[in-house]
Amino acid sequence: MAKAFVTGFPIRHSRSPLIHGHWLRQYGLDGSYQAIEVAPEGFADFVGSLQRNGYVGGNVTIPHKEHAFALCSRHDSAAEDIGAVNTLWFEGSVLWGGNTDAYGFVANLDSLSSGWDRRKSALVLGAGGASRAVVYALKQREFDDIRIVNRTLDRARELADRFGRGITAHEWRAVPELLRDSALIVNTTSLGMQGKDDMAIDLSTADPEALVTDIVYVPLETPLLKAARERGLKTIDGLGMLLHQAVPGFERWFGVRPEVTSELRVLILADMDRPAPNGKPT
Ligand code: ATR
Repeated sequence: MAKAFVTGFPIRHSRSPLIHGHWLRQYGLDGSYQAIEVAPEGFADFVGSLQRNGYVGGNVTIPHKEHAFALCSRHDSAAEDIGAVNTLWFEGSVLWGGNTDAYGFVANLDSLSSGWDRRKSALVLGAGGASRAVVYALKQREFDDIRIVNRTLDRARELADRFGRGITAHEWRAVPELLRDSALIVNTTSLGMQGKDDMAIDLSTADPEALVTDIVYVPLETPLLKAARERGLKTIDGLGMLLHQAVPGFERWFGVRPEVTSELRVLILADMDRPAPNGKPT
């Protein structure tokens, strides 16, 4: 039986076991996928013992993505450029690390808004790890005008330097002006996530043809997406990115390229409505 895992700290809220479990059942495969909580100090040992414990690979999430990058002998080009790993697999005894976040981001937009990348200007809110994957994805799709806005301007500058030409860094107060000619607006910050501050962003100057997307998926309709919908802008939520980023890993470990279906989406949405022990949805 092929065994895979997802590890993070904490990990109990991860929906990845539901996604991979659904596909294992759907394709009738003899495999398993389990969530394993590993604290940062135990991560290197955990990775070192994977093959001995019979794992073919797995997913890595916060806070281990950069550490995983350092522990892998080989990387795919996305992981190399992003500097973080979310998918591990073995080729013989060689540990490979890949990054499928950028793939998940574009696959979600491709499937719901084909032609979304025709115009090559984007406004990216945030300059953390998630933003790095989004900026990499946009560069891959040949966006030549990527504006990164971040509370801490230096982080936006670092990101702009990392990915080179066609990327600029800005402060929040530049947003109204930047919105005018941004064909794509992406939130990568934790603002708007359940329990975090609401995102205060006025979309009145946005291009009416702009597509607005958020990588936050709890709540499914973030304050940014709600404001965009109310202005009649096209919106895409972040759940699809989560589902699509899981595809390449599943294919590597279990040998079948799985499909992202509306049935899978409904399954995850039902789980999001389930109250957690503290009474809040997870
Ligand atoms: P991730 O890996 O999920 O991207 P991260 O690297 O911690 O997480 O980045 C979080 C992003 O959300 C950053 O862009 C952060 O801005 P700073 O770089 O200035 O910290 C942004 N963010 C988080 N809380 C914020 C807040 N209250 N206001 C504005 N930006 C916020």
